Amino acid sequence: MQTVHRLSEIRAYVRAQKQAGKTVGFVPTMGNLHEGHLSLINVAKERADVVICSIFVNPMQFGANEDLDAYPRTLEEDTRLLQTRGCDLLFAPSAKEVYPHGLTVQTKVEVPELGDFHCGASRPGHFSGVSTVVAKLFNMVQPDVAIFGEKDFQQLAIIRKMTEDLCFPVHIVGVPTSRENTGLARSSRNGYLSPAEKQTAAEIYQTLIFIKSELENGNRAFHELSQEAKQRLSTAGFRPDYVNIANAHSLAPAKESDKDLVILVAAYLGSTRLIDNITVQL
Ligand code: PAF
Repeated sequence: MQTVHRLSEIRAYVRAQKQAGKTVGFVPTMGNLHEGHLSLINVAKERADVVICSIFVNPMQFGANEDLDAYPRTLEEDTRLLQTRGCDLLFAPSAKEVYPHGLTVQTKVEVPELGDFHCGASRPGHFSGVSTVVAKLFNMVQPDVAIFGEKDFQQLAIIRKMTEDLCFPVHIVGVPTSRENTGLARSSRNGYLSPAEKQTAAEIYQTLIFIKSELENGNRAFHELSQEAKQRLSTAGFRPDYVNIANAHSLAPAKESDKDLVILVAAYLGSTRLIDNITVQL
């Protein structure tokens, strides 16, 4: 597997692949790869002839008091893992390569409405940072298909909308959340947790399962369910940010008539912010 850092190099590689009639699959990441990311590489391999993974810890999607500096950077180990999974090319640009003129003068991509709720409400500017970098990466890599995890449910919805609205010729594929045996969603931020916290963190999934089964049994008291879930998480030792039951398409608060729902959770365990979700078809 080759690693490239420059826009000119990725362009040359992709041009050569396309001239040879190959389709390009793309897995954008921020590195510190785990089995969840590697399952995205597997899907990319099924969907395209060559697979490119990017590793870029995108400063634009971190708020002022968030973990940009602490975010784990493990390029050597990530490279090894990608090699074992048969990834063809790693694109690991610097911040200067992605934002040559700095962040303040960078043109931004804003997807309206879908970012108003959930993480969008708690992390102002986050999704604009995500949409902007993904749009830039799409223009740099020019993939035929791009693969994202469903763990970031709201992010995936926003990227789908952006891709459609801006007419990117990229097919977006969502991959189900990869989980530990305990149900804990795999995340690079799990690395911040102690073994005891990791056990506690599994309560997020149990809480999602609890709400899902209440909804399936006809409970439509969305607000009370969400309050009960927050109480459950607080008792387990979390500081819940939100537990929301939403329409799975608009991501707006669920209405009684909605059939496709998503339950979204964000909660702090110590200083680590964890997110998870589960969909429900009624
Ligand atoms: O999900 C992530 O790892 C990031 O938000 C992404 C999509 C790579 C953009 O920086």
